[in-house]
Amino acid sequence: MPDMKRTHYCGELRLADAGKSAQLTGWVARRRDHGGVIFADLRDRTGITQVVFDPKIDAEAHKVANQIRGEFVLVVSGTVRERIEGDLLFNLGFEHETDLAALHFSEELRGAFKANGHPLAQNVEMLNRGEVDKWLMTDRTSKRTYVIKMTATEVSVYLGTINLNLPTGEIEVATQKLDILNVAKTPPFLVEDDIDTDEEIRMTYRYIDLRRPKMQKSLAIRHKAMLAARKYMDEQGFLEIETPILMNSTPEGARDVLVPSRLNAGNFYALPQSPQQFKQILMMSGVDRYFQIPRCFRDEDTRADRQLEFTQLDFEMSFATVDDVLEVTEGLMKRIFEEASGISVKIPFPRLAYDDAMARFGTDKPDTRFGMELADVSDLVADCDFKVFKGALERNGQVKGIAVSGGAAFSRKEIEDLTDFAAIYKARGLAWIKVTENGFESSIVKFFSEHTLTAVAERMGAKPGDIMMFVADQPRVVADALSNLRLLLGKRLGLIDEGRFNFLWIVDYPLFEWNDDERRYEPFHHLFTAPADESVPLLDTDPSAARSQHYDLVINGIEICSGSVRIHRWDIQQKVLDLLSVSPEEVERRFGYFIKALQHGTPPHAGIAPGLDRIIMLMTGEENIREVIAFPKTQKGLCLLTGAPSGVSDEQLEELSIKVDAE
Ligand code: AMO
Ligand code: AMP
Repeated sequence: MPDMKRTHYCGELRLADAGKSAQLTGWVARRRDHGGVIFADLRDRTGITQVVFDPKIDAEAHKVANQIRGEFVLVVSGTVRERIEGDLLFNLGFEHETDLAALHFSEELRGAFKANGHPLAQNVEMLNRGEVDKWLMTDRTSKRTYVIKMTATEVSVYLGTINLNLPTGEIEVATQKLDILNVAKTPPFLVEDDIDTDEEIRMTYRYIDLRRPKMQKSLAIRHKAMLAARKYMDEQGFLEIETPILMNSTPEGARDVLVPSRLNAGNFYALPQSPQQFKQILMMSGVDRYFQIPRCFRDEDTRADRQLEFTQLDFEMSFATVDDVLEVTEGLMKRIFEEASGISVKIPFPRLAYDDAMARFGTDKPDTRFGMELADVSDLVADCDFKVFKGALERNGQVKGIAVSGGAAFSRKEIEDLTDFAAIYKARGLAWIKVTENGFESSIVKFFSEHTLTAVAERMGAKPGDIMMFVADQPRVVADALSNLRLLLGKRLGLIDEGRFNFLWIVDYPLFEWNDDERRYEPFHHLFTAPADESVPLLDTDPSAARSQHYDLVINGIEICSGSVRIHRWDIQQKVLDLLSVSPEEVERRFGYFIKALQHGTPPHAGIAPGLDRIIMLMTGEENIREVIAFPKTQKGLCLLTGAPSGVSDEQLEELSIKVDAE
C-alpha cells in the first residue's frame, strides 16, 4: 500500500498554504484534460481542492493521471501553489504611461473586455497581491476572474483560474506523486448538491449520495449537536444511562415493533417507542438526573417528519417542576443551535396556553412567523340569514375565519381551489367575502346587515383589498381546515421569513380527551402525565375539565419536544388508569410492575424528549428528516440500501415457533 498519511483535508487549504507540501486523499470529483496538463478536483468530506498533473513537474504522475475517472480513490502529494493565469484574452496598448490604480475605472479597459466577449459587471474588484505589475480582477456577478499584467505601455488580460465558488479556489496542488488506491464504476448520479435524482436511486446508492457536500455537512452538524447536548447535559449534572432495546410495550400511542423471543416461544419483546417507563424508574432508583440519546421505534406511517426509527435527546429530572424542565430545555436548545450551526437563540421562549393556540391558530403547533390569525365571529353572525352559518351554530358549531391580505384579487378559480383544499380537512365549504373600497362583495353579503359585516371585518382586521374566508362547522373541523388554509396561504403569499426560528412553548393542555365512539376517556398525551395540582379534585368530578402539566416545544410550526411532570403518586396513577377504563387485569399485565414501583418511594419528577432528527432538519433548512438521517427508511418502511425488511429461512421461523401467513 502506498503511504496514505494525509497532511491536510481537501477543503482546508488556503492561499496562506502556498509553497507548502501537502498530501491529500479523496475521490475524483471531476477530471479535465487540457491537452498536456490534467486537472482533477479531489473531494473529501471537507471540500474540494484542484490538483494538477503536469508532465513537466512529474511525468509518471501525469501518466497515471490519464487513467483516473470520476470517484476513483487517490492519494496525491505535491506543492500547494497560487493559481496562475490561464489563456491570454487580449492585449491593450496605451499611448501614455498609465496610472495603475486608475486603470480599474478606465472605460477603455471596460470597452476592450466587452469587445473581446467578456463584458464586466458594474462592480468589479481589483486585488493586488504585492506585485505592482500584476493585478487580479474579480467579477462576482459572472463569477469570473482575470489576471491583468502591465508594462509601461501595454496591458495583457488573461483568464483567471481562481474559482470564486470554492474556499480553496485560490490555490491548487501541483502533483509530484499520484497513487490510485482504488477504481470506481461510473456513479449513477453526480456527486454534487442540487441534483435532481430520484430518491430511490439516492437511497439505493446511499454511500454515493452521502459523499455530496450537503449530506456531509448535515452529518457533521448532527454530530456537533449530539456532542453539544452531551456536554451541556453533563454540565447540568445529568448522567447518560442506556435503557433496554428489547423490552415490553411502552404506551406512546403508536404501533409497536415486535421481536419474537426464541427462548420464550410465543412471547415477544417490543422495541421502545421511547424510554418513558425506564426513565421514570431511574428517578425511582435515585438517579436524580438522567439523559440518553435513544433510538425510538414506532410502527407508524412515515411522513416528512416521521420515521419508523428516530432519535430523541431524552431526559428526566427528580424534584422538578414545569419551570425547571423548560429552563433546562431552553439552555439545551440554545447550546445545540449555537454550537452545531451558529444560529443564535434567545431564551426564555414565549409560552402559549393550549386553548389560546387552538383559538388563534387552530392547532397546537402554530407557525408564528406570520399573522393571519383565526377569528371567531360566531357571536356576530348568530342572527344572520345565511343558513350555512346559522345551521352550524345551531348544531353547537362555530363560525371562524381568516382575513387574507390582498385576497380581494383572488379569482373565482383560485377561491374554488382553496375550497377544495379546505375540503381535504372535511370543511363542507369555504364562505368568502371580499372587502373593497366600494364595500363588501360576495354572493352571500345579502344575508348579513351592513352593521354585521362591518363588525366581522373589524374583528378579523380585514381592510379594503382583503378577502375574509370562513368555515362553519364543529370546532375540530373548523380548526383543521382553517389552520391548514392559513399555512398554505402563508407559504403561497410569501409571508414566512424562512430565516427565522420561532421557538414557542405550548402549555396548559387538557389531561384527557373524550372518545365519543368508544365512550371513554383517552390520555391527551400519555397516561403518566400529571394533572395540574388544582385539577386533581376534578378527577372525581369532571375529568374532561382537568388540565395537565404537559408541555410541547414548537419551532416554526413543527413539534420538536414533548414532555410533562409525571404522576408520582400511585393512587393518582391508579385513578387515571381507572378513568381510562383500563381493566385491572390489563393494568396488572402491562403496568403492574410500574404501579408497584410507584409505591416504593417515588420522588416527584418530570422530563421531556426533544426529537433530534426534527431539530437537525430545521437547522439545515431541510423539509424531510430523511435528509438528516444517514440511513433512513422509505415511505414504505424499506431500507433500499440493504433491502430490509426481508424474508427469513424456514429454520429461523421454526426456532422462533412462528408460522407466517402471508401471500
Ligand atoms: P413524543 O411521543 O411526543 O414523547 O416524542 C417526543 C419527540 O420525538 C419526536 N418524534 C419523532 N421524530 C421522528 N419520527 C417519529 N416517528 C417521531 N415521533 C416522535 C418529536 C417529538 O416531539 N416519552 C415521551 C416524552 C416525554 O414525555 O418525556 C415521548 O416520546 O420531535
Ligand atoms: P351554498 O349555499 O351551499 O351554495 O354555499 C354558499 C357558500 O357557502 C359557498 O361559498 C360555500 O363554499 C360556503 N359554504 C358551504 N358550507 C360551508 C361551511 N360549512 N362553512 C363555510 N362555508 C360554507
